Amino acid sequence: MTGSARVRVGLFGAGLVGQAAHAPTLWDERERFDFVVVADPSATVRQAVASRYSIPNAVATLEEALALDLDAVVIAVPDPAHRAAVLTALAAGVHVFCEKPLAVTVAEVDEILAARGDRVVQVGYMKLHDPATEMMVERLRDGQVDLVHLSVEVSDPDQAPFVDHLGLVTGRDVPPELVRDTRAGAAAAVRDALGVDPDRAEARAFEAFLGSLVHDVSLAHHLLGSLGIDGPLTLAAAAMFDEGRGVSLDWLLPADGRAHLEHLNLPGVPFYRERVTAYCRDRILELTFPSPYLRHFPTRLVERRPDGTVAGLETTEHRASYEEAFRNELRAFHDSITTGAPVRATVEAARADLLALIDAFRLASRGRPATGPGEA
Ligand SMILES: NC(=O)c1ccc[n+]([C@@H]2O[C@H](COP(=O)([O-])OP(=O)(O)OC[C@H]3O[C@@H](n4cnc5c(N)ncnc54)[C@H](O)[C@@H]3O)[C@@H](O)[C@H]2O)c1
Repeated sequence: MTGSARVRVGLFGAGLVGQAAHAPTLWDERERFDFVVVADPSATVRQAVASRYSIPNAVATLEEALALDLDAVVIAVPDPAHRAAVLTALAAGVHVFCEKPLAVTVAEVDEILAARGDRVVQVGYMKLHDPATEMMVERLRDGQVDLVHLSVEVSDPDQAPFVDHLGLVTGRDVPPELVRDTRAGAAAAVRDALGVDPDRAEARAFEAFLGSLVHDVSLAHHLLGSLGIDGPLTLAAAAMFDEGRGVSLDWLLPADGRAHLEHLNLPGVPFYRERVTAYCRDRILELTFPSPYLRHFPTRLVERRPDGTVAGLETTEHRASYEEAFRNELRAFHDSITTGAPVRATVEAARADLLALIDAFRLASRGRPATGPGEA
């Protein structure tokens, strides 16, 4: 394939992120992608999405989609269904973009690694493709940056406030056995991580670590990697709180530094913010991400440096561009397929992220305070 080739692509799973991000992007990026098929077990969903984006084929299963001679597939089904979908797609010889988390156990990621061969496999870490993240990496690489503390704090009310205006279609017609299998897969993954049956808070926290904090772990790994700080990092602390809705982890950094990452789910307040602050000895760099579903709403990068006087501070707000992270990641996927450009969000990175998240989940579960009557 040459760099200008159109990639024949299918979307498997056209739910929230499929409709809010991937379908409109594939439709919009038609110079790069020939959007041949949408596959979703819900007939309501696949028909609505096919009609909205003039996709010529709407099918129920990934296998039916793969029969249409695809080059690539974008997988956006629920987490426990990722492994089977990725392996099926690789067995059919197509390139794979799969939403995060790539899989729900490290053993599953290893199966994907073993099956990858020469195919492109990219994970849906769109924040790594945000223009402001790219600029932050440039700023971190500018001179001898001496990082003392990395702080990531997310306040997340879930998606509703930011997608309500998009008219997303949901279907109650997913076959019940598929829903049951997906739930069973999710429960098995938590049991696999914990070694015993989880309680409700643990099950919720597992989802918060793997489904939400995964973005922050991947971003932190990426930013630290740009400074030559490569994992695995030593886990110093981890917590779950608010019955598993809130999760956090701390890592030790070289030279007695520390990183703290936390994700708070607060559905009562329709405000999203992800703040990533790199406290370095000669500057403070801060990214502030808006809800990822908002379009043309750039992430802010603010840099604060001394100006050489006692109190003087230079504050610079960088605007890299209005490009979308969700769009850039699929452009990068196209590029890797057609030109062999290296993948940024790799399977190897996803494996390191998952190891760190599962470690943190286990420590958080072990360290829960006893709160029963008379135990506090
Ligand atoms: N990158 C991001 O910011 C981001 C945001 C949201 C979700 N995600 C990820 O994308 C994936 C999809 O999440 P979502 O929120 O769009 O989910 P969703 O439940 O809204 O949509 C999933 C779609 O997949 C279909 N489906 C296919 N196989 C299925 C199966 N075996 N069981 C049940 N449904 C099946 C459903 O019909 C549904 O249309 C998840 O892995 C999630 O973690 C990523």
